[in-house]
Amino acid sequence: MSTLRGRGRIGWLSIIAAFLLGLATPPAAADPALDIVVDGESRTFSREALLARPDARDIEIPADIAYGRPMRFRAVPLAALLAGRPMPTGSVIETVALDGFAAHLPLDLVTNTDPAKAIAWLAIEPADAPWPKLPGKQATAGPFYVVWTGAQVKSVSSEYWAYQVAKLVSELPPAARWPQLVVDAALPAAHAARAGQTLFIAQCLPCHMINGAGSSDVGPDLNRPMNPTAYMTREGLHALIRDPKSVRTWPTQIMPGFAADQMSDRDIDAVISYLAHIAARNTEQKTAQ
Ligand code: HEC
Repeated sequence: MSTLRGRGRIGWLSIIAAFLLGLATPPAAADPALDIVVDGESRTFSREALLARPDARDIEIPADIAYGRPMRFRAVPLAALLAGRPMPTGSVIETVALDGFAAHLPLDLVTNTDPAKAIAWLAIEPADAPWPKLPGKQATAGPFYVVWTGAQVKSVSSEYWAYQVAKLVSELPPAARWPQLVVDAALPAAHAARAGQTLFIAQCLPCHMINGAGSSDVGPDLNRPMNPTAYMTREGLHALIRDPKSVRTWPTQIMPGFAADQMSDRDIDAVISYLAHIAARNTEQKTAQ
């Protein structure tokens, strides 16, 4: 089916195949399901099967990130859903959302079960008790939403609260998967762009590609064709990351701001240093060609 979704030429064969598939496919299933793909092997969990699991719990979330208020969910520990499916150390779990958002959750974080740290849960929206709509959106966080509890819940990146999730896929860490987003090896260890790369992967890559690296196109690529550090001042870019609405506003604006408890001024400066580093390197590569 990828030819139908991609930009490729739609040949007769794919039209016929699509027609036959259309005849063979039953009407959209009422019960949403979550696919978990590890090493290319997919397992599907229906909503009802997830809700019926013995390890499903009612959990309280005092400060829910997507809803911005206390919430209560029926949820299953993510570690339990991944149990028995070995993955290479350093892997990440990519959360594939219905709207194209794609966070990369470090495996050691999602598989932790020690409440002294942070624990990941898959919250399941019940068919008979739908969740409220997300603030400013027409949809809820369902059918599946990754939420966090545990003593260190505040240290979890806001973008790791992935909502409207349809699929979880084990992947190589982004820096190994997309070398074009990695800072130069020659950069000093303490250079801000190094910290900026880590922050960019956690906070920005879920929506933005950079240099063609990444798997989401919710927002624009932040280096192609031009890097924002080439047309915005450092102050303007800082203000935009902190609160996009302080720079410009329009009704269909999507990008969330990052409050000081999610990204400090220093963190934002590090991300800007990272963007500037990638921009500079790209110019060098262009002139070298
Ligand atoms: C939830 C998705 C999301 C996240 C997370 C996100 N952005 Fe965005 N960003 C967008 C979207 C979408 C736009 C386009 C404007 C809009 O609709 O808000 C945008 C626009 C921008 C722009 C303006 C580009 C232009 O000139 O039009 C910059 C710069 C930017 N983002 C940087 C960042 C950085 C840096 C981060 C991480 C700290 C980040 N964004 C995180 C979705 C996101």
